[in-house]
Amino acid sequence: MGKGSGYGKVILFGEHFVVHGVPGIVSAIDSSTDAIVTKAKSGLTIKDERKTAKGYSEEKRLQQIESIERILNAMQLDPKTPLDIWIGGSLPGFSGLGASAASSVAIARAIGEELGLKLSNERINQLAYEAEIAYAGNPSGIDNTAATYGGLMWFKKNPVGGPDFVERLNVQGQIEIVICSTGKVANTKAMVEGVAERKKADSIKYGALFEQAESIAVAGRKALEAGDLKEVGKFMNKSHQILQEIGVSSVELDHLVDVARKQGAIGAKLTGGGGGGCMVALTPSESLQSRVADAFKAEGFEILTTKIGAIIR
Ligand code: MEV
Repeated sequence: MGKGSGYGKVILFGEHFVVHGVPGIVSAIDSSTDAIVTKAKSGLTIKDERKTAKGYSEEKRLQQIESIERILNAMQLDPKTPLDIWIGGSLPGFSGLGASAASSVAIARAIGEELGLKLSNERINQLAYEAEIAYAGNPSGIDNTAATYGGLMWFKKNPVGGPDFVERLNVQGQIEIVICSTGKVANTKAMVEGVAERKKADSIKYGALFEQAESIAVAGRKALEAGDLKEVGKFMNKSHQILQEIGVSSVELDHLVDVARKQGAIGAKLTGGGGGGCMVALTPSESLQSRVADAFKAEGFEILTTKIGAIIR
């Protein structure tokens, strides 16, 4: 029996833009997906016991099977290697939290352990990237990197396919956040493809938005490192605005962002692929965090209260 786990994540700056080489900032969260893998006699069995948004497992099933075959293939094993796989853990299967990458990291680690392969974190990260292709089509690599290593990091995709540019960020202590799920399952692949198509069709508008995204990530990083959380929040709000402009927000996400801001969150934005999925509110104190969380709960939404900062494997 082999075991493994991978972190969930929240993107503070740069989702979608990172796919095209703009830098972004991601933080692992203190929730993970765990996997147990056992060699089997025939076939692939997946017992998925994660708590999920309604319809998540069904909608992701084919991508999940493809992702496992991709991991096996990248390990130079038969993609149809018979395995029994159990998936669970504290990270809910909500779109936007890197649940697919966390599960791929967990499964790759567990397969490695079961087969007696000594896989480095670097190798696990590569395998999880391969798996992410099944879920995101053209992933940047930001989710699998956070799921593998944990922590708060600056991420820039390597444009020519070598190792990505990743830097750990230092912040003082940990900062409370609230994540709220719209309850809607999103198709990351379709969202990523949609942005690429619109960018191609309107290169002037998108060129300007991509420049803004880069400035926001740079300014957001400065503010985070200086401990100026008001500024961080301001740039998160700006980030939500440009995500709206590239067409990846939704009525539900915009509503949740408004609710958070009305309750005093100092910044709020969608996080991850959008089109449903989750948003994140910056709420740096336990009382503010509770107030925002309560407002979401009162409207019947599912939330996760956690912190960003140093969670390092
Ligand atoms: C998804 O969490 C983040 C996206 O930018 C896709 C990716 O970077 O692979 C939408």
